[in-house]
Amino acid sequence: MNLSKIKIPKPVIIKEIEKNSPYVKTFTLQSYIKGHKFENVAPGKFCNIWIPNLDMKPFSISDFENNLISFTVKKIGKTTTYMHEKLKKGDKIGLMGPLGKGFNIQGKNILLIGGGFGLAPLRYLLNELIKKKLNIISLLGFKSEPDIFFLEIFEKKSNNLHITTEDGCMGEQGRCTDQLDYIFEENKIDQIYCCGPEPMMVKVLAFAIEHNINAQFSLERYIGCGIGLCGKCALNGKFRVCIDGPVINSLNLKELSDFGEFKLTKNGSKIKIE
Ligand SMILES: Cc1cc2nc3c(=O)[nH]c(=O)nc-3n(C[C@H](O)[C@H](O)[C@H](O)COP(=O)(O)OP(=O)(O)OC[C@H]3O[C@@H](n4cnc5c(N)ncnc54)[C@H](O)[C@@H]3O)c2cc1C
Ligand code: FES
Repeated sequence: MNLSKIKIPKPVIIKEIEKNSPYVKTFTLQSYIKGHKFENVAPGKFCNIWIPNLDMKPFSISDFENNLISFTVKKIGKTTTYMHEKLKKGDKIGLMGPLGKGFNIQGKNILLIGGGFGLAPLRYLLNELIKKKLNIISLLGFKSEPDIFFLEIFEKKSNNLHITTEDGCMGEQGRCTDQLDYIFEENKIDQIYCCGPEPMMVKVLAFAIEHNINAQFSLERYIGCGIGLCGKCALNGKFRVCIDGPVINSLNLKELSDFGEFKLTKNGSKIKIE
């Protein structure tokens, strides 16, 4: 075993906590080690956040500026509820990473498609894309009003913004994938970046293949070791989300029959994705 692969969490201090919606908070972290600079930070990569005496969980980097690294966390279960309810500014936690492979920045006319906490990596990507002065169209899908976050950011920084909500409280009623044909007819798109619920990404993959557009997707699976050893994050037993991903391009993704169909649980059993 290559021991140089093994990473340990480094101490960080919570510099700021911002509430983005009833269930979403952004934690901005600063290194606890004087003079330490975060390295290899890029959109699409993730870190394992270690909460002492609780657990370590993966989160996409949602921004990085002036050596401050941010993570946008949806309250779902044990760890994320603790993060939302107990963590406060000044607390010390652990950070392992950046891990994995991020987005490859290419194309001139970009379509960002996000849903749920998929907006987290796309926010950081958006901040990098605007530095390159690219044409950016954002398509964001939410269930209902309490699920909406980062709207002002995408509104301000995209050339064009499309919103869908399932209950019709904002934007077009329905799912964001319902808008793909319309957006494609109205715009010249040469690159799609997508992160969100897997059934949504399945539709975007089919659309990208049908229209021959380059697309990159950020996948989510249960992360065990985070360094490519345990195989719990694998699709088809070969693509390990923790080191081969989480970002994957459409050509490689269409070869993985587990995508949209099956995932491994914490104990390694294969279950159907609902
Ligand atoms: C590469 C990667 C990047 C990620 N980036 C982000 C991010 O930027 N922001 C973010 O909020 N989350 C992100 N996640 C998901 C995040 O890791 C989980 O939400 C977190 O592990 C949940 O931990 P918990 O202890 O709170 O929940 P647990 O107590 O482990 O789970 C509680 C319940 O929620 C279910 N559950 C767990 N995770 C999810 C999920 N993702 N969706 C739906 N149900 C779930 C479990 O099955 C269980 O029933 C990412 C995951 C991966 C693999
Ligand atoms: S989490 Fe262990 S191999 Fe990916």
